[in-house]
Amino acid sequence: MKEFSIQVPVTELSYDELTPAESLLVETAREATSRAYAPYSHFKVGAAIRLDNGEIIPGSNQENAAFPSGTCAERSACYYAHARYPEARFEAIAVAAVGTDGCELDEPASPCGACRQALMEYEHLAGHPVPVYLAGKSKIYKLPSVSALLPFTFEEF
Ligand code: THU
Repeated sequence: MKEFSIQVPVTELSYDELTPAESLLVETAREATSRAYAPYSHFKVGAAIRLDNGEIIPGSNQENAAFPSGTCAERSACYYAHARYPEARFEAIAVAAVGTDGCELDEPASPCGACRQALMEYEHLAGHPVPVYLAGKSKIYKLPSVSALLPFTFEEF
């Protein structure tokens, strides 16, 4: 028998520790929460994806009365990014959320399992680790890659 553990490296940053490029990405995700359509959960999520062509693609959760038909912020951003710029590769991703009380979360929100799996595919296409920034009210968790969020990823490729 052999036991092993998988560790996820996380860097906790304050807002003033972000580089200008990181700050722009995180602010785009925070701003995108204002465009969430969340009349059912009242939980507003914003995402932003920086592409290697210089574009930053925002996304937000879009709910629907037929509940499973709604889409998370991360998937609305990554699917739009790849639909609009199929040749571009992902460079970095940021996620932010505003809770049901209308306030930004203290503890940064983290993508759901389905979004992790979806984002993994674009990290694979990029061919390099794509850092993920999870933005809270006063701190940001930086993970080095999407795969750090999803150990034992399902991979067909
Ligand atoms: N949501 C996201 O947008 N991203 C996630 O990773 C988790 C959840 C959305 C889905 C739904 O509109 C609301 O948050 C509450 O679950």
